[in-house]
Amino acid sequence: MSDVQGLMDTPIAGSGRHSAAEGAGPGSMKHESAILHVTGQAQYIDDLSEPKGLLHVVAGLSEKAHARLVSVDLSAVRDYPGVVRVITAADIPGDNQTSPVHANDEPLLAVDLVQHVGQPIFAVVATDRAIARRAVRLARIDYDELPALLDIDAARANGSPLVWRPLTMERGAVGPALESAPRRLSGCVTIGGQEHFYLEGQVALAQPGEAGEMRVWSSTQHPSETQHLVASVLGRPHHLVTTEIRRMGGGFGGKESQANGCACLAALAAELTGQAAKMRLDRDDDMMITGKRHDFQVRYDVGFTSQGDILAVDMELAARCGWSADLSGPVTDRALFHADNAYYYPDVRFRSQALKTNTQSNTAFRGFGGPQGIVAAERVIEEIAFATGQDPLDIRLRNVYGTGERNLTPYHMVVEDSISDLVMTQLAERCDYRHRKVALRAFNATSRMLRKGIALVPVKFGISFTATHYNQAGALVHVYTDGSVQVNHGGTEMGQGLHTKMVQIVMQEFALPADSVRITATTTGKVPNTSATAASSGADLNGMAVLDAVSQIKGRMIAFAADKWQVAPETISFTPEGVCSGDECVSFRDLVWQVYFARISLSASGFYKTPKISWDAATGRGRPFYYFAYGAACAEVTLDLLTGENTIDRVDILHDAGQSLNPAIDIGQIEGAFVQGAGWLTTEELVWDEKGRLRTHAPSTYKIPACSDRPHIFNVMLLEDAPNREETIYRSKAVGEPPLVHGVAVLHALSDAIASLGDYRRCPGLDAPATPERLLRTIMAMKSSVAQSSDTRPSSAAVGAPTGESV
Ligand code: MTE
Ligand code: MOS
Repeated sequence: MSDVQGLMDTPIAGSGRHSAAEGAGPGSMKHESAILHVTGQAQYIDDLSEPKGLLHVVAGLSEKAHARLVSVDLSAVRDYPGVVRVITAADIPGDNQTSPVHANDEPLLAVDLVQHVGQPIFAVVATDRAIARRAVRLARIDYDELPALLDIDAARANGSPLVWRPLTMERGAVGPALESAPRRLSGCVTIGGQEHFYLEGQVALAQPGEAGEMRVWSSTQHPSETQHLVASVLGRPHHLVTTEIRRMGGGFGGKESQANGCACLAALAAELTGQAAKMRLDRDDDMMITGKRHDFQVRYDVGFTSQGDILAVDMELAARCGWSADLSGPVTDRALFHADNAYYYPDVRFRSQALKTNTQSNTAFRGFGGPQGIVAAERVIEEIAFATGQDPLDIRLRNVYGTGERNLTPYHMVVEDSISDLVMTQLAERCDYRHRKVALRAFNATSRMLRKGIALVPVKFGISFTATHYNQAGALVHVYTDGSVQVNHGGTEMGQGLHTKMVQIVMQEFALPADSVRITATTTGKVPNTSATAASSGADLNGMAVLDAVSQIKGRMIAFAADKWQVAPETISFTPEGVCSGDECVSFRDLVWQVYFARISLSASGFYKTPKISWDAATGRGRPFYYFAYGAACAEVTLDLLTGENTIDRVDILHDAGQSLNPAIDIGQIEGAFVQGAGWLTTEELVWDEKGRLRTHAPSTYKIPACSDRPHIFNVMLLEDAPNREETIYRSKAVGEPPLVHGVAVLHALSDAIASLGDYRRCPGLDAPATPERLLRTIMAMKSSVAQSSDTRPSSAAVGAPTGESV
């Protein structure tokens, strides 16, 4: 198979139905901005033509992790030629506060106290970005240093300060169940964080208007929140502030709350100078200032039978949250919601610890804590597999959610449609997992330096915001008198294809070609009070709101035509030939004109709220998710025992996107998410020094996957004939985040390769990220534990003689 096999030969679910759909409705229509992206014509915020007299903002950052500000002398900064204004907290007319969860713990500019290296203390506004960058360095700041808690261990050793309430999920009696279990083991898994590394850094452009108006173009996933925070920093009502975003060059959760700082500082600069102002973070500053994926430590205690049936699981999930609450509450909650992954635990208790540390404020990142919970769940599976001498896939299949009693989650939601066993079984067959595993073991038995590993890991991912009120959306659709249509909705485009899907819905409903439907930038002036485009729910929520708006306009057009033609409304349909009743057809454009002439509105705002969901954090019970998205991935790797270097030789993914809205885009999402997940768990490592300085603050020191790191064979398949059981838009399923979890298969394949050194009887306990260094350490530990046990228990049959020869 060639490298491009996955791209060229990917079977596309429902391709029969979609094949002719280039021009109309759902199907693999290309991304609405594809041509603009590849020709460089797509406008990102830094590409917008700059207003006259544009000023540039750069922030002055704390050099200490935790300190009192004794004195801040900015006179040299002020005096620097080209500096127009220097801004400190005292200049803020409104609230010096940007907490996205109203925790009141996140000042825009530090006052008296700094809590991480990289925290903005002041901002310089200059005629040129280079001038501003030089000027910030002239600040003289005296700090009185305080003890800094930099990581989970330090926080735990110092009273475990929290940024958010702990959450407990409990079902049954986990203590007694653990005690009476025939087998029991416990351990701890460490999971690293992740830098978003969106290609476009954080950026905002603010332009003051008349009478206190402020327009802000912000690279934000959450325009309404940006609007609200800019308004409160300026001390204005919301209606004076408008936020707009046409597209982001990647967000991945890193622009859900972290875009607000730039937007507020740019707006503040514009307010104080009366001129337009732009803040575009340099990559190093971006990495130093903004939060990342939370790293976790998960302690687990599990009871099981000698056959490998899980009886009880107790887990404590601790996260490094950084200096403020930000989204750490919902992130740690979501980790708990996924610490079961696809498995039924008869007795269970999960507890979260959202630890406060003197580091960047960790935030949303694709999966939002869910992937960390799943890594923990899969470690437990691995432990049981090695302890009972079984294939991890068999432990997975034994313990998946089923029917009856075996379908209740730790949060008391019933899993109504578990298809994890079906997905795993289908994928194992399609990629020939069992035979390949045998072949790899044969290879390992005779290979000295290279070991191969394989793993097949499922994902079950809950779809909906767990903050129930977020599950609403609005849209605004205009039909103009020439028959062209403009669609607006509350979601934002960050490359994931949301706008394309929204255009497709309008095309499908009105039976119009792509060039008749125009999507515009997202703006709070058109659709207000929106939720973040996050939790993978962009298409679910906004798609239904768009459908609602279109349906209203269609209803009016149908009522008009039915009256005019004296036919029943049910006989009227929108077709590519026009709007027809029986043999009679009129072009869409003609009907639109007639409807307009009859003084009937051709514009409508749509609204949607997700049904059925509820969640009570106090009791740890509810139905937080409308439904689950499923999938499984099988990864094969080769690991060099001398260097820890490795390659991903082959990956097969079977993923459930329901009745996909756009198979080509969804497959792209799955491919990208997998690579991002694999990067998180292997090469991407965040390192802070003992002073709390992030040492990996640029691409030179932080290793994201390169093209050459992608799987050599990469097959991505959509689960076929799998419409969503719930009434989502065209029975599709959300696809943005769940496939990130497929990267876990790579971690486990590497672990499997190392396990060969201990005859697959010892869990390697491979933590993430599995960098070459960590792999080497784990290889050493495995070898010495094998050597030790053969010293002390030379004839132990249970452990088995290691087949791996020393190198
Ligand atoms: N895909 C691209 N290309 N760029 C992104 O920034 N963000 C991901 C995912 N896919 C992202 C992406 C994240 S974190 C989420 S929550 C979803 O897209 C959000 O979009 P959706 O709800 O429309 O799927
Ligand atoms: Mo995605 S982490 O919910 O923006």
